Amino acid sequence: MKAIVVTDEAAGRAGMTLAERPDPDVAKLADLSGANYGDVVVEVHASGFTWDELSWPSTWVDRRGHDRTPSIPGHEVAGVVSALSYGAAGLSVGQRVFGLTDWTRDGTLAEYAVVEARNLAPLPGDVDFTTGAGVVMSGLTAWQGLFVHGRLEAGQRVLVHGAAGAVGSMATQLAREAGAYVIGTGRAADAHTARDFGANEYVDLENDELADVGGVDLVFDVFGGDLGARSARLVRAGGTLVTIAGPPEVRPAEGRTIDFVVEADRTQLGEIVRRVRDGRVRTNIGTIAALDDAVAAFNPAGRKKGKTIIRVRP
Ligand SMILES: NC(=O)c1ccc[n+]([C@@H]2O[C@H](COP(=O)([O-])OP(=O)(O)OC[C@H]3O[C@@H](n4cnc5c(N)ncnc54)[C@H](OP(=O)(O)O)[C@@H]3O)[C@@H](O)[C@H]2O)c1
Repeated sequence: MKAIVVTDEAAGRAGMTLAERPDPDVAKLADLSGANYGDVVVEVHASGFTWDELSWPSTWVDRRGHDRTPSIPGHEVAGVVSALSYGAAGLSVGQRVFGLTDWTRDGTLAEYAVVEARNLAPLPGDVDFTTGAGVVMSGLTAWQGLFVHGRLEAGQRVLVHGAAGAVGSMATQLAREAGAYVIGTGRAADAHTARDFGANEYVDLENDELADVGGVDLVFDVFGGDLGARSARLVRAGGTLVTIAGPPEVRPAEGRTIDFVVEADRTQLGEIVRRVRDGRVRTNIGTIAALDDAVAAFNPAGRKKGKTIIRVRP
């Protein structure tokens, strides 16, 4: 099968190459001796990749710390189940699915991916594969940050950093839909986009004073560093700082701090896709490219807005 592979951590995205890799061994997968109970083979139709994935240790080593190169990156997928192993619960061959795959295994920038069934959810027939792959990472991250870790409630004030970005635009939409008051942040040029996704207010981080927003019940941080530290000081007593940017340097004086990495969750994917179908949330996809053009798409000359989705099958 064709796949994008990486072998050199120092090379970053410039080191991505289109290569030929072995197809998944379906006979071994179905065989009880395979020790891969619960895996399914997904015929990949659309794949998503997070820009800094190649800096994550999980791209380079497996769970035992062993070198796993050449690695196939991209952990967001939408496609069709083409084979099942023993114990693959809840899915059948031919079913349309989408989901988030294990960080420490080969990913989805390939014609086929072997994925644990529990990481996948059914993709309704009226949601196209590009959309399915486009909501996985941002949707789950936003959902978990707002509702699981942030315990967001209607009427609360939430500060969403990077509100025009992939995760931030999804967090903005979901928070608004849940009845929160959303203050988005980002670059001056992105004010319109963030408001279009539903931000009630916008802080232009290049020109405005962040402290002027006053107290908030929840901060959803995607930046960390100095911005994260200044944001922690805005959290009201009893509020929460949720961050996806690594352990924070400053914590709210009288609030909780949650630093998390997104997890696969079939039920949450169902909630997200329901909102996509009825128009309550939309994707933030900026570029769609074929697998043959993926290396170029991930090495653009300039900054790209929104997610890049690779259509592995047209
Ligand atoms: N822990 C987890 O589970 C998890 C899950 C998903 C993502 N992440 C991480 O979260 C971060 C955000 O992901 P994403 O996919 O949403 O990225 P993204 O689409 O690039 O969104 C980030 C947004 O913030 C803006 N921005 C970046 N730096 C800024 C600055 N200094 N001042 C003002 N605006 C700035 C970006 O604008 P420009 O495009 O103009 O720079 C963009 O609009 C990434 O580092 C990603 O790896 C972590």
